[in-house]
Amino acid sequence: MERVLLWNVCAVFVLLSCNAVSAQTLTSTYYQEACYWGTCQSRLSYRAQGEPTLQGIADLFGVDFYDIMGANNLDITKANTLANSKVKNGTIVLIPIRCECINQVRRTNQTVYRVKKGDTLFTIANDIFVGLVPYPEIGKVNNIQDLDNIAADQLLVIPFLCSCPNITAPNPFTIGLTYSVASGDDLTKIANEFGSDATAIQTLNNITDSKSLQAAQIIRVPIPGCKANFSGGAQDGDLIVTKGAYNLTTPADCVQCKCYGDTPTMHCVPNPVLNVSQCPSLDCSTNLKIGNFTTKMEKDGCDVISCEYKGYLYMGKVDKPITQTKEPTCPAYPAVPGPNNLGTIPGSSGSTPGASPGSPGAPGGPPANSSATVLGSQFLLFSAISVAATSLLVV
Ligand SMILES: *[C@@H]1O[C@H](CO)[C@@H](O)[C@H](O)[C@H]1NC(C)=O
Ligand SMILES: *[C@@H]1O[C@H](CO)[C@@H](O)[C@H](O)[C@H]1NC(C)=O
Ligand SMILES: *[C@@H]1O[C@H](CO)[C@@H](O)[C@H](O)[C@H]1NC(C)=O
Ligand SMILES: *[C@@H]1O[C@H](CO)[C@@H](O)[C@H](O)[C@H]1NC(C)=O
Ligand SMILES: *[C@@H]1O[C@H](CO)[C@@H](O)[C@H](O)[C@H]1NC(C)=O
Ligand SMILES: *[C@@H]1O[C@H](CO)[C@@H](O)[C@H](O)[C@H]1NC(C)=O
Ligand SMILES: *[C@@H]1O[C@H](CO)[C@@H](O)[C@H](O)[C@H]1NC(C)=O
Ligand SMILES: *[C@@H]1O[C@H](CO)[C@@H](O)[C@H](O)[C@H]1NC(C)=O
Ligand SMILES: *[C@@H]1O[C@H](CO)[C@@H](O)[C@H](O)[C@H]1NC(C)=O
Repeated sequence: MERVLLWNVCAVFVLLSCNAVSAQTLTSTYYQEACYWGTCQSRLSYRAQGEPTLQGIADLFGVDFYDIMGANNLDITKANTLANSKVKNGTIVLIPIRCECINQVRRTNQTVYRVKKGDTLFTIANDIFVGLVPYPEIGKVNNIQDLDNIAADQLLVIPFLCSCPNITAPNPFTIGLTYSVASGDDLTKIANEFGSDATAIQTLNNITDSKSLQAAQIIRVPIPGCKANFSGGAQDGDLIVTKGAYNLTTPADCVQCKCYGDTPTMHCVPNPVLNVSQCPSLDCSTNLKIGNFTTKMEKDGCDVISCEYKGYLYMGKVDKPITQTKEPTCPAYPAVPGPNNLGTIPGSSGSTPGASPGSPGAPGGPPANSSATVLGSQFLLFSAISVAATSLLVV
């Protein structure tokens, strides 16, 4: 088979390769994002193969289980059950992973795979890691001379291609997702699946003809998110959370920050499964916790006292300034979207799909239902809020 290599000297390289490996033939097109420095949070779109557990997926990619919970908006109060719940074959799970700059290309360096008997670089790249990495790249970063010759028990770094947002671009903040195109996909479908925008995907990937999209092509999808507006000096001041998801922050995961709304806004509350002995105080006053507010009607209007999480400081302290405002009427506690229904384990008691009981203090929080962008039972994230758990988990 012919091998075509296109090389651009611009900010982005396009590499089009057509590889022949005996019967295992796959044409894959992928971008390599050029870089000079820096790292960022990114996501991989992993299509579950077989029926792995969430903990098994975390172990496969070498990422933190609680970070997977957050990236997919899974119910933190059900973490123990979910860790060992099986995920249906084909379900997309977002993998939060650090994107680095290695040899002037954006790649991850967090996943180490131990070769099993019968594996080839091709099957590792395409079957185990579902086409999220071009197999010659595995050979390249692991200095494998003969791509057909790997040994059982050999440890391989799996360098997923990844993407960092253009920090000079205007808001809203995005997180780069690596996606392997499935047959039947088009840009609009992919955009809807991840709450992204077809034109933005097209531009980011330098796709001139949107009909040229091919199955197994690796593309980058910018997912909208929101950035923390924490105090200067906060250790988690660079926190970005994707829309519809959450992040557990502070060293002991004491605070849960969610991102929601049309103009995505971050709102932080105490982690509902606090590790009390490990956490600093999250009380702003005797009856006020971070992320909450109190109201008191007076003759001249309503006194609203609120307290916001403004970041984790050195010396184990949390910045949590109290503010007081006067409003004509007392605001109600708006609801913040609840966790992904996947958190509702079939047959478990006390399941509360949809909105969590009003987490107050969230200005203008939308109702819990999501919408048009729902993709059937394939997706954890954006179907997240409305797809029934039973369709995602293997009972
Ligand atoms: C999982 O689904 C894929 C298609 O997404 C299919 O090719 C594969 O055979 C399925 N695997 C199992 C174990 O059902
Ligand atoms: C990638 O990770 C390995 C450890 O798994 C480390 O030895 C290596 O230095 C890292 N490479 C880069 C470029 O950071
Ligand atoms: C980053 O964004 C800025 C502002 O929108 C733009 O001028 C610049 O070309 C972008 N850089 C890249 C590499 O896309
Ligand atoms: C985008 O693709 C066109 C043609 O395919 C090419 O001429 C151009 O240099 C590419 N731009 C970038 C930034 O890679
Ligand atoms: C960020 O927080 C400061 C106070 O700490 C506030 O004055 C400012 O308006 C906030 N900015 C945004 C974009 O919310
Ligand atoms: C969540 O935030 C913490 C603190 O900023 C960060 O270390 C961690 O990587 C974040 N996790 C994800 C999945 O973004
Ligand atoms: C709570 O703290 C203990 C002790 O450090 C730790 O083993 C456990 O994983 C923590 N739990 C959570 C949910 O972070
Ligand atoms: C916020 O305050 C209200 C009213 O005092 C209370 O019912 C609610 O449980 C509080 N929520 C949190 C997350 O502290
Ligand atoms: C959410 O659902 C309720 C009733 O089911 C409906 O009234 C409301 O308009 C919906 N909101 C959105 C944003 O779809």
